[in-house]
This record gives sequence, structure tokens and C-alpha cells, in this order.
Amino acid sequence: MGNAPLDARLTTLLDEFEERLVESAVASSPFVTEAARHIIAAGGKRFRPLLVFLSAHFGDEADHEDLMRAAQVMELTHVASLYHDDVMDDADLRRGAPSANRLWGNSVAILVGDFLFARASTTVAELGVEYVMLQAETFSRLVQGQIAETKGPAEGEDPLAHYIQVIADKTGSLIAASARFGGMVSGASDEVLTALANFGEEIGLVFQLSDDLIDITSTTTGKTPGTDLREGVPTLPVLMLRAENDPADAALLRLIDGDLTSDPALEAALQGLREHPVMGRAKAEVERHADIARAHLAPLPDGEAKDALLQVSADLVNRTT
Ligand code: IPE
Ligand code: IPE
Ligand code: MG
Ligand code: MG
Repeated sequence: MGNAPLDARLTTLLDEFEERLVESAVASSPFVTEAARHIIAAGGKRFRPLLVFLSAHFGDEADHEDLMRAAQVMELTHVASLYHDDVMDDADLRRGAPSANRLWGNSVAILVGDFLFARASTTVAELGVEYVMLQAETFSRLVQGQIAETKGPAEGEDPLAHYIQVIADKTGSLIAASARFGGMVSGASDEVLTALANFGEEIGLVFQLSDDLIDITSTTTGKTPGTDLREGVPTLPVLMLRAENDPADAALLRLIDGDLTSDPALEAALQGLREHPVMGRAKAEVERHADIARAHLAPLPDGEAKDALLQVSADLVNRTT
């Protein structure tokens, strides 16, 4: 974050969090423990726990156990959704490691996701009924977003509006909940909780829009580039190209809509997009959402935690992993 004392406190919290997270994946059989730890141990940015920890600066001193629980519930819910997402997306790689579905098949991957979600439920119950309600509402939005993505837009529905709703639900919901959870454990006021949740919702959009752009541009994500294109999931630049309907883009769109199972075909589609000015227009749209996110922080008191959230929103626009 560029603030040494805050960074040191966050590192201490994240180290302790890490130990607890690995512990929460212990099951009654060695196989389930191994499968449940697989994606946890593979790494990940721990962005949602970080957001919980930062958001806990806006009330009183948070109870340490509750703070750890809140972070754990958010990351366990996230990791559970990754097991399921990789089945849906038929993904080979997650966090630089072979996906659980590749190693053990879809059924095991789905059930291990359920197991981790159950572990999140135990921990959230210890926090209290308001937390249970928010986590349930969040998970219901997340899965509805995933289903809506799979179904695609309804007849006559604007594909771009559908896409934004999908990413708000599948990703924004959990990031908003992480910001609100942090505020809740510190006993922040309703006004602050609303500001934190609005901020989280909006940077959730930024987070997923950037994720979708780096699916096209980056080869260092620990995931297979072009997964969205190959799975036929249209993301912002492709949706913009379709909406613009420029005859000069017809060949590229035909390529994108064609069979991308072979690596050369996928690479050609990715290269066509990478070189296209629509990538710049898409990036500008991400920046617009980051500006909206920052505006939501206005009611929060100035200080190191607010500066860090501002920094987070700026970094997300330019993230490469
Ligand atoms: C991946 O999330 C799934 C999305 C919502 C885009 P992250 O990018 O936070 O994944 P990890 O936790 O760092 O692996
Ligand atoms: C993941 O969306 C969203 C959830 C896990 C809920 P993506 O399918 O776009 O994410 P990655 O790129 O596989 O991480
Ligand atoms: Mg995926
Ligand atoms: Mg997906």
C-alpha cells in the first residue's frame, strides 16, 4: 500500500489468516483435506480478506477473532466458487496449478466446493445472524450471476447491460460483502457501511472487467489465456465490437464466433483483439467505474485506510494478475 506501518499490520493479519484458512480445510479424510487445500495452497491474491482488513478501520477497534472470521468467510466462499467456476468453464489451470476438475473430475470438484462453502457457513454462524443473512444473500447473487452468464441475454435484452449485471452479481456481490463485513466487525455506522458496500460493489465491477481484459492480454495470470473466448463468454471488448457493428471488424468477429478449440485459432483471435483499438475503449470504461468507486469513498473519514482503498481502486485498473 506504500504506507509502511499499515503494510506491516496488514502482513501480520494476512499471515495469521493464512494459517487459519489452511486449518479450515481439514476434513475427516486425507483425500478431502488434500482436495480442499489444493486451490487454497496454490496461492491467490487474498484480495477479499485484504478488503475486510482495510474496511475494519472505519469503526472502533474490531474484535480480533471476529475480524479473522470475517476474512475467512469471504475467502472460503470465494475459493468454493472457484472450484465450481472451473467446472463451468472447463478450466485446466487455477492459480498456476492444475484445476481440481482436471485432477479429480467434475463431481469431486463440485463437492469440494460445497465442502468449503459448508466450512464458511460454520464460521459465519459464529459471527451472528446479520452476517449469515448477508453471506446468504451474497451467495445467492453470485450463483445467479453465474447462471445468467451461462444462459446469456434474453431475447431483446441489451447484451452489454446483461454482461454488467452478470459481473455485478458474480463478482461485485462478494467484494461488496467483504467491504461491508470489515465495517460490520468494527461496529461502523450505517452510513459508513453503505459507503463501503457501494465502493466494494463498484470495485467489484472494476475487478471483473480487468480480469476479463487480462484474459485477453496477459499470459501471467496462472490461468489459461483466452478461456472466456474459447468458452464463448463474450466480455467487454467483444461486446463493444458487436455493438459498434463496424464492417471493418466483421472478419475478427467471425473468427471470435468461430471454433476456437485449436490453439492457433484461439491465438489468432486473441492477437486480433490485442491489436484492436477497442481494447483502449474498454480500458477507459474500466477507469470510469474506478472513478465511480472512488466517489463512493467521499463520506469516509480521511486517513491511511481511505488512502489505501483509493490506492486499491487505482491498482485494480492496471492489474496484470
Ligand atoms: C478470480 O478471482 C475470480 C474472479 C472473480 C475474477 P481472483 O482474481 O481474486 O482470484 P485469486 O483469489 O487471486 O486466485
Ligand atoms: C469467476 O468468473 C466468477 C466467480 C468465480 C464467481 P470468471 O470465470 O471470469 O473468473 P476466472 O477468470 O475463471 O478466474
Ligand atoms: Mg472461470
Ligand atoms: Mg466463469
